[in-house]
Amino acid sequence: MQRQYLIAGNWKMNTTSDEASDLLRQMVELGVQPNEHVDVLFCPPFLSISSAIQALSGSHIHVGAQDCSQHLHGAFTGEVSAESIRSIGCSHVLIGHSERRQYHGETDDSCNAKIHTAMDAGLAAVYCIGETAEEREQGRTADVLSQQLLAGLRDVQQTENLVIAYEPVWAIGQSAATPEQIREAHASIRTVLVERFGEARGAEVFILYGGSLNASNAREILSVENVAGGLIGGASLKPDAFSSIIATAKELTQA
Ligand code: PGA
Repeated sequence: MQRQYLIAGNWKMNTTSDEASDLLRQMVELGVQPNEHVDVLFCPPFLSISSAIQALSGSHIHVGAQDCSQHLHGAFTGEVSAESIRSIGCSHVLIGHSERRQYHGETDDSCNAKIHTAMDAGLAAVYCIGETAEEREQGRTADVLSQQLLAGLRDVQQTENLVIAYEPVWAIGQSAATPEQIREAHASIRTVLVERFGEARGAEVFILYGGSLNASNAREILSVENVAGGLIGGASLKPDAFSSIIATAKELTQA
């Protein structure tokens, strides 16, 4: 079967609204565009989403948010609802990025609530999981991933709107995991997904890798079994690097 990829950029707290549209115009000029095998997604900060959607109109590139509230609406000052994210034109939302777990008290339970809220609003949830350096040293990687998956996906029935991003915390903004580490982690995630959703549906869920994925290691990482794309931070803010990663993904689907 021909490979399919989702290449996603997580811009974190970078770009003003004007900077976002400039950057996306440069990306498009450099050939960043999806095809039938490679989907492209950018997740700018909330206030740059609208200008990103405008800059990308007609391009078929997806735009997503980096978080959403677990509540539908109401007295939650400062929060942003999944419904408003959907209604502005986003298709995806990141849930449980390790920076949110680390700095904003996200837990597997709050992620679970957010995944339900996001899916109910018609968004695809990109659920981020990954072990810390300490958990890896203690040999607990597979257990941690399994726990994050089972708790985060509690009572989740559908897989069409679900993407998993494996992001080892120690690799983010540092240096990427090795292909062997990625192969092992993705295989253990796949096993949990198959147990949880059954053979056919569990096999379909995209599992992205994230953590210092860049233009130089993209070919090696995207070739690893069970890797269906990347969640890319730093390199997604650099048009040359990001367009090169997209070109690599396209080449790999032709291989
Ligand atoms: P990085 O970030 O590519 O800069 O390591 C990835 C992420 O945090 O999603």
